Amino acid sequence: MFESDLIILRPLRGSDLEQLIKLHNDSGVKTMAAMHQFPVSPELEQQWLDAIIMDKSNSKAYFGIESREKGLLAGICFLQNINWVDRTCWFGISLLPEFQGKGYGKSALGMLLDFGFNKLNLLKISLYVLAVNSAAIKIYEKAGFEVEGTLKQHCVVDGQRSDLLIMSRFRER
Ligand SMILES: CC(C)(COP(=O)(O)OP(=O)(O)OC[C@H]1O[C@@H](n2cnc3c(N)ncnc32)[C@H](O)[C@@H]1OP(=O)(O)O)[C@@H](O)C(=O)NCCC(=O)NCCS
Repeated sequence: MFESDLIILRPLRGSDLEQLIKLHNDSGVKTMAAMHQFPVSPELEQQWLDAIIMDKSNSKAYFGIESREKGLLAGICFLQNINWVDRTCWFGISLLPEFQGKGYGKSALGMLLDFGFNKLNLLKISLYVLAVNSAAIKIYEKAGFEVEGTLKQHCVVDGQRSDLLIMSRFRER
């Protein structure tokens, strides 16, 4: 577990199901996080959550982002596709709309970078972000991520095509 004044990063648990169903069915979050666009049933979400909770692969680390103020799951963040040979992985984050713009994203990113670089001993963390996702790009740039590549017109956002950026950050040596 990791903590800041605003949030607690902790393992996901069974009682998070209701908030996760909301998160994975929120159309704004789904669009901006460029995720699976189809509806997610409670049964499907339960299966996904069980798989995360029981995962022993050492190839992913998912955390619930809990709001200190509300005592509720505000979102999730994760490192996945961890490659122990290359020492790389991919970062992702999504927050329910009522918890956005409060500094939670910036705080969670800082804690996950510390975990990835200093506990897991990774060398490089990468992510995908839509070119139109200004709030996300802002926190990534502030945390030292740089654009490494552009998948041109790769996604549809509300009927308009958008570039998808690959951003990465190396561990400070
Ligand atoms: C993207 C996301 C993780 C950011 O987390 P957050 O808690 O909302 O962001 P924070 O409050 O920590 O910081 C956002 C920063 O962007 C700025 N910002 C917010 N909206 C903005 C906009 N439309 N344009 C430019 N900057 C914006 C804020 O002012 C803040 O900057 P500051 O620290 O200089 O004040 C969160 O909004 C989210 O989960 N969104 C939906 C899913 C998503 O987009 N996931 C990321 C996929 S790559």
